[in-house]
Amino acid sequence: MKFVRSAVRVSRILSFLTLSAGLVLPAFAADSAAVKRGEFLVSVGSCADCHMPFKMGATGPEKDTTRGLSGHPQAVRLGPPPKLDADWNWAGSASGTAFIGPWGTSYAANLTPDKETGIGNWKERDFIRALQSGQHVGATRPILPPMPWQSLARLPVPDLKAIFAYLKAQAPVYNQVPAYQPPAAP
Ligand code: HEC
Repeated sequence: MKFVRSAVRVSRILSFLTLSAGLVLPAFAADSAAVKRGEFLVSVGSCADCHMPFKMGATGPEKDTTRGLSGHPQAVRLGPPPKLDADWNWAGSASGTAFIGPWGTSYAANLTPDKETGIGNWKERDFIRALQSGQHVGATRPILPPMPWQSLARLPVPDLKAIFAYLKAQAPVYNQVPAYQPPAAP
């Protein structure tokens, strides 16, 4: 009798495990497909062009892959910007992560899932809303150039979700990007 009861218990546990594996595995597979699609979109969307800083390498500037997509490096202190005029009216920093123009000075954001300085606390809907509306999360101000949100807003929602899934799957990098500065008074 005792044997029968424990056999029943074991078979219940087994069927529970099989059931949960059945439930969990497809969701996991869907997640990894989204991450893969996200990786592709981040690559063709050239996010690293602006969100991954340059460093000086042996043969000239090269992308600093150790920083991932962590945006403008917090330790880089920039000198005064070049004088802009009607012909040359915007410029970028040597790091490739800070930009100045008629909109002020913008710094490429930290897109790694660090909770304090990156997108670690963003919900998927925050990400989609920001890229579709061009409003900085919290809707406090517009997302500024040269961030190409207008092109990304045209992506189908599943692709935006895939980009978000990929970004969330990256290693978090603590990097406090400086706050945007409005244009200096003329
Ligand atoms: C040409 C440069 C450039 C490229 C390419 C670029 N970004 Fe950005 N991105 C920026 C800059 C600069 C900011 C900061 C804008 C600001 O402060 O308003 C930014 C900000 C962001 C933000 C934060 C928006 C917010 O709410 O504050 C997200 C998310 C983002 N980029 C995602 C991406 C993704 C994903 C890609 C690739 C598909 C990408 N960016 C490609 C320059 C770029």
